Amino acid sequence: MSEVRFDDRVAVVTGAGGGLGREYALLLASRGCKVVINDLGGAMDGTGAGTTAAERVVQEIKDAGGEAVPNYDSVADWEGASNIIKTAIDAYGKIDILVNNAGILRDKSFLKMEMEDYDKVIAVHLNGTFFCSKAAWPYLRDNNYGRIVSAASAAGVYGNFGQANYGAAKMGIVGLMHVLKQEGAKYNIMANVIVPIAGTRMTATVLPPNIVELLKPEYVAPMVAWACSENNTFSGYTFVAGAGYFSRTAFMEGPGVFLDPAQGITLEMIDENINKITSLEGAQTFGGATEQTGFALSKLNLG
Ligand code: NAI
Repeated sequence: MSEVRFDDRVAVVTGAGGGLGREYALLLASRGCKVVINDLGGAMDGTGAGTTAAERVVQEIKDAGGEAVPNYDSVADWEGASNIIKTAIDAYGKIDILVNNAGILRDKSFLKMEMEDYDKVIAVHLNGTFFCSKAAWPYLRDNNYGRIVSAASAAGVYGNFGQANYGAAKMGIVGLMHVLKQEGAKYNIMANVIVPIAGTRMTATVLPPNIVELLKPEYVAPMVAWACSENNTFSGYTFVAGAGYFSRTAFMEGPGVFLDPAQGITLEMIDENINKITSLEGAQTFGGATEQTGFALSKLNLG
């Protein structure tokens, strides 16, 4: 099997000063990729800032013989995001790969969550992913090449107590990547999602130390790096990775039932059919909204 390489490729990894982002950046750089190490360098709740985190990772990459430059902007505002991408253009003349990884946490029960906790988490995760992708997009389009991998979370895909802000932001990212898959298809831009499971500062407070040990961030990195590679022609996929486990999660739609509108559809008919309506037996995924609408319309006898 030939080695997966990133020679002559340029990547931006946001939030690469620690945790998962650092591992993604180290792996890409070790395979020849030039990497912009973005990190705001603040605390886990998004407060504060500093240059040390990004600088340290840049140094690690250089010490290992790789190429990297730091960037300390926040992904959470348009100017910052634009400057992150500009750092790649200024240093290396292009961008091929964007890993939207930066993140913060402000967990509270829904009842107690302040609007500020909502705004800040949406700003970093959802807006940050939107802004960085948008700033990179014209370059990817013009080069007819792009690989975007954005971090979602099981907290959004499946739900997690106390993470209403985070879960909402993360599923917004999944929706965004589904759209970018469609808009990027003819420009060779693949937009995918990673649902990581890893022991980092983000999970160290909720997971016992022995479990954190089994969930090394470096176990997630090969999935992300592969999705960033030329070998990857999948787009709109949500990959899951952690502890050596690799999989795909997706929205599935069951075959459902067809109730003929011409005959009238009542609440009682929904009541009678609810088990069939909710069954996922024989479920399928759709490549886009048009395909799904077409499936619904195909049930109608239009003849
Ligand atoms: P982490 O806290 O170790 O890393 C996040 C990095 O993002 C930090 O270095 C932080 O300084 C940086 N950052 C925060 N706000 C920023 C901003 N506005 N601009 C630029 N950089 C910023 O956390 P971890 O675990 O490595 O998380 C990475 C991503 O993976 C996050 O998006 C997280 O939500 C996601 N994730 C992690 C999981 C896990 O098991 N660790 C599970 C599911 C999702």
